[in-house]
Amino acid sequence: MQTFHTIAELRAALKTLRLQDKSIAFVPTMGNLHDGHMSLIRRASQEADIVVSSIFVNPMQFSANEDLERYPKTLEEDKKVLKANGCDYVFAPDALEMYPDGKRSQTQIEVVGLSDILCGASRPGHFVGVATVVTKLFNIVQPDCAIFGNKDFQQLKVIEDMTRDLSSNVRIIGIDTARNEDGLAMSSRNGYLTEQERDIAPTMYKTLLWAKDQLLANSASHEDIREQAQQKLEAAGFRRDYFEIRAQDNLQMPTEEEKCLVILAAAHLGSARLIDNLRVDLG
Ligand code: PAJ
Repeated sequence: MQTFHTIAELRAALKTLRLQDKSIAFVPTMGNLHDGHMSLIRRASQEADIVVSSIFVNPMQFSANEDLERYPKTLEEDKKVLKANGCDYVFAPDALEMYPDGKRSQTQIEVVGLSDILCGASRPGHFVGVATVVTKLFNIVQPDCAIFGNKDFQQLKVIEDMTRDLSSNVRIIGIDTARNEDGLAMSSRNGYLTEQERDIAPTMYKTLLWAKDQLLANSASHEDIREQAQQKLEAAGFRRDYFEIRAQDNLQMPTEEEKCLVILAAAHLGSARLIDNLRVDLG
C-alpha cells in the first residue's frame, strides 16, 4: 500500500493504473478508522481492481464552534488497518494542499434544499463543506465508484443528488451501518464519550427501533412518536437536536401514502453529538 500527501503524486500514480485499464473504487474518510470504515474498504475491493482511500479532516465542513481541533488524528494506525483490509493507495493531504488558505475553497457546491434541513439546520454550512470536498476528491481520484455509509444517511443523499445534478460518472454505493454489539453505531466521535456516557449511548439505537415498531404497528401519529422518542432520549441523558420521520428518497416530510420512510436522530451526549437512522419500509 502506498501513501501520498500531494495531489500531483497521487495523480501520477493513478494515471499509470488507468493506462492499464484498471478500475478504481474510492472511499473518502476523515480517518480514526473503525470497523464501519473497513466495511466500506472491503466492499470497495469487491467493486474494482484498485482501492483508493482518503484521510482528510476537512476544515470546510466544521463550523467555528465544532470539534475540528480535537478530531482524533491517528494516521499510522489508520494506514495499518487500511492495508490489512485491502486498500492500495491512501491519499492524506494537509489542509494547504486542498485549500489555498487551508480552510475552504472559493467555489462551493450546494445541493439546495437538502443541505439546510436536519443536520444541515443544526450545522449550517456543513453539507456545503462535504459536497465541495467530495467534488474535489472525485476530481483528484476520478474513481469509477465511491462507497459511503448509510450511517450518514443525509450525507449519502447529498452525494447522490450532487453526482446526478453535476452529471458525474462516479457510481455511488451506500453500505449498511456497522454497529457495536449493543447496537451503538460505530463512529469516530464515540471516543469523546466517558465510560458512563458510553453505557447510555445505545439508547439512541433502541429508541429508533422503538419508533420503527410504532410505525409498523401504525399505532401512533408521527408527531406523537417523535415527541415520545425525544422524551426517551432526554430521560436517558441526551440533549435534544432532532428526531424526525422522513421520506427515504428526498428526506422531506412524508405524505400519508409514503411507504418508504427513514427515522433520523441526532442528539448530544456529554461533549459528543451522535447521529443514527433506521429505514422503515411499510410495504
Ligand atoms: P467519516 O466520518 O470518516 O466517514 C467516512 C465514511 O464512513 C462515510 O461514508 C461514513 O458514512 C462511513 N461510516 C462512518 N461510520 C460508519 C458506520 N458505523 N457504518 C458504516 N459506515 C460508516 O463522512 C465523512 O468522514 C466525511 O464527511 C467525508 C465524506 C469523508 C467528507 O469529508
